[in-house]
Amino acid sequence: AFVVTEACIKCKYTDCVEVCPVDCFREGPNMLVIDPDECIDCTLCVAECPVEAIVDEEEVAADQQEFIELNARLSQQWPPITQRKDAPADAEQWAGVPAKRKLLEE
Ligand code: SF4
Ligand code: F3S
Repeated sequence: AFVVTEACIKCKYTDCVEVCPVDCFREGPNMLVIDPDECIDCTLCVAECPVEAIVDEEEVAADQQEFIELNARLSQQWPPITQRKDAPADAEQWAGVPAKRKLLEE
Protein backbone atom coordinates (compact mmCIF):
# COMPACT_ATOMS: atom_id res chain seq x y z
CA ALA A 1 0.00 0.00 0.00
CA PHE A 2 0.96 3.63 -0.31
CA VAL A 3 1.40 5.74 2.81
CA VAL A 4 0.74 9.42 3.51
CA THR A 5 3.71 10.78 5.45
CA GLU A 6 4.50 13.80 7.61
CA ALA A 7 4.67 16.33 4.79
CA CYS A 8 0.88 16.24 4.53
CA ILE A 9 0.35 17.58 8.05
CA LYS A 10 -1.10 21.11 7.90
CA CYS A 11 -0.70 21.17 4.09
CA LYS A 12 -3.58 18.84 3.22
CA TYR A 13 -3.88 19.90 -0.40
CA THR A 14 -6.32 17.04 -1.19
CA ASP A 15 -5.30 16.84 -4.87
CA CYS A 16 -4.57 13.19 -4.20
CA VAL A 17 -8.15 12.12 -3.52
CA GLU A 18 -9.51 12.93 -6.96
CA VAL A 19 -7.42 10.33 -8.77
CA CYS A 20 -7.81 7.37 -6.42
CA PRO A 21 -9.80 4.68 -8.25
CA VAL A 22 -10.81 2.94 -5.04
CA ASP A 23 -11.54 5.99 -2.84
CA CYS A 24 -9.25 4.90 -0.05
CA PHE A 25 -8.28 8.30 1.34
CA ARG A 26 -9.53 9.19 4.81
CA GLU A 27 -9.70 12.69 6.23
CA GLY A 28 -8.52 13.87 9.62
CA PRO A 29 -8.48 17.43 11.00
CA ASN A 30 -5.15 18.39 9.42
CA MET A 31 -3.94 15.40 7.42
CA LEU A 32 -5.17 12.62 5.16
CA VAL A 33 -4.25 8.95 5.37
CA ILE A 34 -4.66 5.95 3.06
CA ASP A 35 -6.48 2.79 4.10
CA PRO A 36 -3.84 0.14 3.42
CA ASP A 37 -6.46 -2.58 3.07
CA GLU A 38 -8.15 -0.71 0.20
CA CYS A 39 -5.16 0.73 -1.69
CA ILE A 40 -4.43 -1.20 -4.90
CA ASP A 41 -0.96 0.32 -5.45
CA CYS A 42 -1.95 2.09 -8.65
CA THR A 43 0.54 4.94 -7.87
CA LEU A 44 -1.72 7.61 -9.40
CA CYS A 45 -1.89 9.73 -6.25
CA VAL A 46 1.88 10.07 -5.84
CA ALA A 47 2.38 12.67 -8.57
CA GLU A 48 -0.65 14.68 -7.47
CA CYS A 49 0.76 15.70 -4.10
CA PRO A 50 2.54 19.07 -4.26
CA VAL A 51 4.64 18.22 -1.19
CA GLU A 52 5.45 14.63 -2.16
CA ALA A 53 3.87 13.22 0.98
CA ILE A 54 2.76 9.92 -0.56
CA VAL A 55 5.26 7.07 -0.58
CA ASP A 56 5.27 3.35 -1.33
CA GLU A 57 5.15 1.43 1.94
CA GLU A 58 8.35 -0.33 0.93
CA GLU A 59 10.15 2.97 0.39
CA VAL A 60 9.14 4.92 3.48
CA ALA A 61 12.16 6.74 4.94
CA ALA A 62 13.59 5.62 8.26
CA ASP A 63 12.28 8.70 10.08
CA GLN A 64 8.78 8.20 8.61
CA GLN A 65 8.21 4.59 9.58
CA GLU A 66 5.68 5.55 12.22
CA PHE A 67 3.33 6.72 9.47
CA ILE A 68 2.78 3.19 8.20
CA GLU A 69 1.05 2.34 11.46
CA LEU A 70 -0.63 5.75 11.65
CA ASN A 71 -2.23 5.31 8.21
CA ALA A 72 -3.49 1.85 9.16
CA ARG A 73 -4.88 2.99 12.49
CA LEU A 74 -6.33 6.40 11.61
CA SER A 75 -7.93 5.15 8.39
CA GLN A 76 -10.17 3.05 10.61
CA GLN A 77 -11.43 6.06 12.55
CA TRP A 78 -11.51 8.89 9.98
CA PRO A 79 -14.21 9.34 7.29
CA PRO A 80 -13.63 8.95 3.53
CA ILE A 81 -12.78 11.95 1.38
CA THR A 82 -13.31 11.66 -2.38
CA GLN A 83 -13.59 15.28 -3.49
CA ARG A 84 -10.88 17.86 -3.45
CA LYS A 85 -11.39 20.83 -1.15
CA ASP A 86 -9.50 24.06 -0.49
CA ALA A 87 -6.24 23.57 1.36
CA PRO A 88 -5.81 25.35 4.70
CA ALA A 89 -5.15 29.08 4.23
CA ASP A 90 -1.64 28.69 5.66
CA ALA A 91 -0.79 25.48 3.76
CA GLU A 92 2.03 27.13 1.80
CA GLN A 93 3.75 28.19 5.01
CA TRP A 94 3.85 24.61 6.21
CA ALA A 95 5.13 23.09 2.97
CA GLY A 96 8.60 21.69 3.50
CA VAL A 97 8.64 22.37 7.24
CA PRO A 98 10.28 19.38 9.00
CA ALA A 99 9.17 17.62 12.18
CA LYS A 100 5.43 18.30 11.95
CA ARG A 101 4.52 15.00 13.59
CA LYS A 102 3.69 16.68 16.92
CA LEU A 103 1.17 18.90 15.14
CA LEU A 104 -0.94 15.98 13.90
CA GLU A 105 -4.50 16.22 15.19
CA GLU A 106 -6.28 12.95 15.63
FE1 SF4 B 1 -5.47 5.26 -4.26
FE2 SF4 B 1 -3.76 4.34 -6.07
FE3 SF4 B 1 -2.95 6.12 -4.29
FE4 SF4 B 1 -3.48 3.64 -3.51
S1 SF4 B 1 -1.83 4.26 -4.89
S2 SF4 B 1 -4.13 5.53 -2.50
S3 SF4 B 1 -5.17 3.10 -4.88
S4 SF4 B 1 -4.49 6.46 -5.88
FE1 F3S C 1 -1.82 15.55 1.77
FE2 F3S C 1 -0.57 15.76 -0.51
FE3 F3S C 1 -2.95 14.71 -0.44
S1 F3S C 1 -0.58 17.26 1.11
S2 F3S C 1 -3.92 15.77 1.22
S3 F3S C 1 -1.15 13.88 0.53
S4 F3S C 1 -2.19 16.06 -2.01
